[in-house]
Order: sequence, then structure tokens, then C-alpha cells
Amino acid sequence: MDKLIVEGGVPLSGAVKVSGAKNAALPLMAASILADGPLTLTNVPRLGDLRTMGRLLKHMGGMATLYPEEGGSFREEAILDMSGLTNPEAPHEVVKTMRASALVLGPLLARHGRARVSLPGGCAIGVRPIDLHLKALSAMGAEFDLAGGDIVAKAPRDGLVGADIRFDSVTVTGTENVMMASVLAKGKTVIRNAAREPEVADTARALVAMGAKISGIESDELEIEGVDSLKPTSYEVMPDRIEAGTLLSAVAMAGGRATLIGARLNDLAVVLGKFTEAGVFLRAQNGDLTVEAHRGLLSAVNVTTGPYPGFPTDMQAQFLAMMSTAKGASIITETIFENRFMHVAELRRLGANVTLEGRTAVVKGVERLSGAPMTASDLRASASLLLAAMSAKGVSEISRVYHLDRGYDRLDDKLNSLGAKIKRVRDN
Ligand code: EPZ
Repeated sequence: MDKLIVEGGVPLSGAVKVSGAKNAALPLMAASILADGPLTLTNVPRLGDLRTMGRLLKHMGGMATLYPEEGGSFREEAILDMSGLTNPEAPHEVVKTMRASALVLGPLLARHGRARVSLPGGCAIGVRPIDLHLKALSAMGAEFDLAGGDIVAKAPRDGLVGADIRFDSVTVTGTENVMMASVLAKGKTVIRNAAREPEVADTARALVAMGAKISGIESDELEIEGVDSLKPTSYEVMPDRIEAGTLLSAVAMAGGRATLIGARLNDLAVVLGKFTEAGVFLRAQNGDLTVEAHRGLLSAVNVTTGPYPGFPTDMQAQFLAMMSTAKGASIITETIFENRFMHVAELRRLGANVTLEGRTAVVKGVERLSGAPMTASDLRASASLLLAAMSAKGVSEISRVYHLDRGYDRLDDKLNSLGAKIKRVRDN
């Protein structure tokens, strides 16, 4: 396992490219199951969860080539041909490492009429059941049994049937799962209270490029007319808005001035508003975003997470770290997951003053954090520890950075290219 050794207090400068979105590439890789031939994805970030999804697709008997090498470098591409799928299964040893494996359920039912997917256990940030996915797929005629911790699913003999579905609460992968199931179902499916996250829209656009009939994209009501088959195509993954937000937070905490190349700004509208309120200077220029901040001069701002277009829960840990050295007190409320404050205990080791009351954190800004050893617990928490270490006085160590590598495309390298002093060492 690796750990990062971070020298704090170094301002950032320069420019860095925003990678493709992990949470769009994951459903898009699952969507390859629906096609009658290869789906080529470009702008695919190089990170652990996508390698895991590639292994899962291969386990099913498909062909998955990720990051093909060309002249000594890797292309950010995934070529996925699932037409030879023989084994519609997502075993426990894969699903336990990545809950997003559940995204193969809808496509397998739609294309092969059956699936065996290990029921995802909880994870660090919460129980995270998939009851809403199963309830919606049942409405389309799917039947489920539980055997040895696996969901054994089957579609009606002549395929899934379109249905009018309303999600009791917003679910991102639930919306994606049902949307992918419905593109080959018989008749029309309506998904009400659908998630509006940009990654859902990106998945929908890729399905349309493959021949699906989907209307209401970007709204909370999707209408899908089933078709007989989906054709091979090539699709460019959208930029990762959470990576962009994380890079913004890094400049806000360490201070300095940097340009994010290729950030899709309207995906970040609410986040950018909060950064501006906190005293971060932002300037958008033909698709790039220049950010400038002075360490220690941020103002406290309150944030409540919510489904898109609200403040994303995946930016909560990073923003809380920012508020730990802001002037004043900020109230941060996490409405999506029940246990997404694990970064707080670690930030306290650097001197952060945070009081937790249920799903609310009261953050009282301190003058300066001081470096200390920390342990990462989940993907976005590990990012927030790194940001805090970059602004702290002295040296910090962060162990278990495999959490970071699951969801970011070489984030430490990107930050070092902006002048950060982060060393990655083997931590046996
Ligand atoms: C997606 O997870 C993202 N993952 C998460 O990003 C993100 O935090 C989350 O959406 C919220 O935006 C991917 O897209 C791969 P949900 P997902 O279903 O779909 C409850 C990251 O850091 N729920 O929208 O699993 C659930 O427990 C990851 O990149 C049910 O109760 O999230 C949660 O409290 C972390 N039953 C809430 O709804 C269900 O059937 C929202 O979950 C489904 C969800």
C-alpha cells in the first residue's frame, strides 16, 4: 500500500487538464453490455474503479481493452465488446470492492434476460442499499431471488416490459440502471423523480448515440421508447466535475493561481457560487477556469449537500477541509449519506475545530493547520486530507491512499505539476 508525504504551505501555480468523469465512465462501461458490438469510450480517466469494471466485464466473457498503449504512452480509451458475453455474473469478490458493479444488473437483464449480482454490502460512507433499483426493475417484469448473498435476477421470457416508474427518492445509479434496462424493453418507460446528475445525462447521450430513444435528458422525468438493438459507437466521456472541484479546493487551501483545462463549468454552478462566496477568485475563459486564492483568507460559508443541481455530496469533504481554515464558523449539512464525516476525525489531528451533530458539522476556522500523520477512509475523505495537508504547516503523511487511487486519475501527480510537494512512498 502507498502513502503520501506532503510538505504543506506551498502555493500552487500553472495549468492542469481535468480528466474524464469516473461516474460517467462507470455506467458507460456497463452500457457496453447492451451493444451488438464494440463501444469505444474516449477521454477515459486512468483510475482503479474503471480497471475493476474492466475486470468484471472480462469475467463475464467480454472483451475489455483499457488504456491501450501506443508509442510508449497510454491512450485514455476503453474498447469494450460484450457481444461475446457468456457469464452474466458479478461475483462478490468484485462487487465488495466496487458497489458500482450493480450497474451491470439493468443491462444484463435487458440484453440477456438474466443476471447474478452479489448484493452490494455497505461501505464506509453508508449502508447504500439498492432496493430502489430492484423495485423499479420489478415494475418492468424482472424477478429477484437472494441466494448466498447474490441477487439472482431474471426477466420475463420475452423480455422486460416498459413501465411508468417513480423513484421514492433520487438515486443516481438507480436511474442509470433502470434507464439502461429500458432501452431494449418492450414499449415505453417513464422514469419520474430521475436523478439529474450530469453523469446520468452523459450516459443517456451515449445510449442515444447507440440508437436508443430517450427524451427528457437532464430533466427529472425521462421517457424511453424501447428499440430492438443498440449499435456499436464511439463516445467521449464528459469531464469530471468532482475532480475539477477537488482541484479548485486545492488552490483555495494552498493558495496561488492555477488554470483548470477543460472543466465543464455549468456542471459546477452551485459549487463555483460557494467558492466565490468563500473569497476564491474565479475566471472562466473558453472552457478553462482560472482560480486564485490566498491561503488563510477564506471566509466561512454554509453548505447543505443535495441531489443535482444542489451542492454535490462528493464535494462535501473537500469543502469542509477548506472551511477548517476559513474566517468564522460554517455549518455543513450532509443530506445524502448517513456516515460521510470520517474525514473530520483525521482533520482534527491537524488542529481543525469541528463539532459533529448528526448529519451536521459546525466548522470553526483556525489560523493554520499543523501537519500530522493521517489515515484515509474513503475516496473523497482521502482527497480532503490531502488538501488539508497541502495547506498545513510542516509535513503530513496520509496512509491507505488506495482509496484516492480508486477515484482520481493520478491526483498527486497533477497537484505536483502545479508546484505541490507530495511524495508517494511504498507503505508496507
Ligand atoms: C452515486 O452513488 C455516485 N457513484 C456517488 O459517488 C455519489 O456520492 C452518489 O451517487 C450521490 O450523488 C457513482 O455514480 C458510481 P445514490 P449511488 O443511489 O448511485 C440511498 C464517489 O465518491 N439509496 O444516488 O450509489 C443511498 O443509500 C461516489 O464518486 C437507497 O436507499 O448513490 C444514499 O443515501 C460515492 N436505496 C442515497 O439514496 C437505493 O436503492 C443516494 O444514493 C439507492 C440509493
